[in-house]
Amino acid sequence: MKELNLHIQVIVKQEDELTTQELALLDEARRATYRSYAPYSYFSVGAAVELANGTIISGSNQENAAYPSGLCAERTAVFYAGSQHPDQPIRRLCIAARDTEGNFLSRPISPCGACRQVLLEAEQRAGANIQVLLYGTEGIYLIPSIKDLLPLSFDDSFLS
Ligand code: THU
Repeated sequence: MKELNLHIQVIVKQEDELTTQELALLDEARRATYRSYAPYSYFSVGAAVELANGTIISGSNQENAAYPSGLCAERTAVFYAGSQHPDQPIRRLCIAARDTEGNFLSRPISPCGACRQVLLEAEQRAGANIQVLLYGTEGIYLIPSIKDLLPLSFDDSFLS
């Protein structure tokens, strides 16, 4: 028998400890929550991605009466970035969310499984780590790579 121990590193920072670049991305993610279309969940998520050339693209969750037809903020941002800037790899991602009362979550918002899968491929496509910032008012989680969020993941290497 053999045991595998998978380890992930999470740095927890307060807002005043963020770099200028990290703070700019956080501000954009927070702003994006106000462009969310969430008439069913009343849960407003914003995502901002920083591209290699410094461009920041944001997205928010977009819901639909046929619930599964809606899309999370992360995939809205990543797919928009890919469709508008196909040659610019994503370097950093930040997510923020407001609850049904409109307040930013105290606990860092974490991406759903489907978004992690899409983000993993964006990272592989980028050829370098995408740093992840998960915003909570009581602390911001900084995670060095999407791979950390999806251990033992499925990717195209299984297809060949
Ligand atoms: N949602 C996101 O946009 N991102 C996440 O990381 C988690 C969930 C959205 C989907 C849906 O519109 C609402 O939040 C409630 O699940």
